[in-house]
Amino acid sequence: MNEKKIIELKNVAKSYDGEMILDHISLDVHEKEFVTFLGPSGCGKTTTLRIIAGFVTPDTGDVVFDGTRINDIPAYKRHVNTVFQKYALFPHLNVYENIAFALRLNKVSEEEIFERVEEMLAMVNLRGFEKRDVNLLSGGQQQRVAIARALINKPKVLLLDEPLGALDLKLRKDMQNELKNIQRKTGITFIYVTHDQEEALSMSDTVVVMADGKIQQIGTPTDIYNEPQNAFVADFIGESNIIDGIMLDDYKVRFSGHEFECLDKGFDKNERVDVVVRPEDVDVTKPGQGMLDGVVTSVTFKGVHYEIIVNINNFKWMIQSTDYVEPNQNIGIYIEPDAIHIMKRSEYSGKFGDYSSFSDELEKLSDASEEEE
Ligand SMILES: Nc1ncnc2c1ncn2[C@@H]1O[C@H](COP(=O)(O)OP(=O)(O)OP(=O)(O)O)[C@@H](O)[C@H]1O
Ligand SMILES: [Mg+2]
Repeated sequence: MNEKKIIELKNVAKSYDGEMILDHISLDVHEKEFVTFLGPSGCGKTTTLRIIAGFVTPDTGDVVFDGTRINDIPAYKRHVNTVFQKYALFPHLNVYENIAFALRLNKVSEEEIFERVEEMLAMVNLRGFEKRDVNLLSGGQQQRVAIARALINKPKVLLLDEPLGALDLKLRKDMQNELKNIQRKTGITFIYVTHDQEEALSMSDTVVVMADGKIQQIGTPTDIYNEPQNAFVADFIGESNIIDGIMLDDYKVRFSGHEFECLDKGFDKNERVDVVVRPEDVDVTKPGQGMLDGVVTSVTFKGVHYEIIVNINNFKWMIQSTDYVEPNQNIGIYIEPDAIHIMKRSEYSGKFGDYSSFSDELEKLSDASEEEE
């Protein structure tokens, strides 16, 4: 990214009632960038946005805007607007007046207001809605008004806190595309919050994965998916088998009792590592013809592929394959070197990446339904 930095968080920390909510996070956001904070509920996404907007003051650390420290600049003086999940439109004003609101405060001329509101209405696909009562609009339309209202005074940065969270799936997808287009057209920096990984991967230039008040990884969607930095990221983004391994040497890792070739290097000899293998990267073979053998414990049809749970040495792997296999069948699995990704161990090691609970749950469910019969 060549663009210059527009927002920098430097070692920002925030506690509430003695509990560390943001644990010294640092982050650069560049001009024209679409950055997404992605993480589970309670990890500190909204708090981070509020610190950037100026609604929350960090305990320590600096918030820098366009090269200047702005910790002490009040929210209304920052060149930043926010769009919330709840649209918070003015109920007594029509669509036109809702969008015009900030310009009227700034005593902009009637002519210019008209021009800019019309431009915004076109941008969010609401031409002809000027006189409508905002209370009678659909959720998607209300959110478009909220976006137009936030963009009308041309903020340098737009903060969006789960803006599509209240919309149904189909409308969400449409709005995702529209938001992305609006961001490209206006060149405004977007900082977007979601806990939906698919939304984050499909919209962003840069994804910031957060958990437990810390930044776990910052990268492009492809980096985050292909090169997760630890077991948390590997588990949170997509499906992952995460296995204990030992790095025997550069390009050589041992796990599940077998020695595998891989593309990773630079670890200590015999260093314990976390090994990630994505379900779509595992090939099914006849027993004895792959690298590992196991027993199929469940098969679920997913449309594009089957989702197969296989017990290999008491570790339950998830495999996605277009080939059908039977429950209880013995199979082999084959893994190419480039399908193996090695990670440093972390506080998240051993916590994720085994699909036991997944298939136990299914077994319990099917036991329960058998009992009912
Ligand atoms: N004003 C406050 N006083 C006390 N605790 C707070 C306050 N604001 C946030 N918290 C706590 O800080 C933590 C992080 O909250 P935050 O709203 O940033 O999470 P989030 O990542 O946005 O979660 P969600 O996805 O549920 O919106 C939570 O445990 C929350 O309860
Ligand atoms: Mg939140």
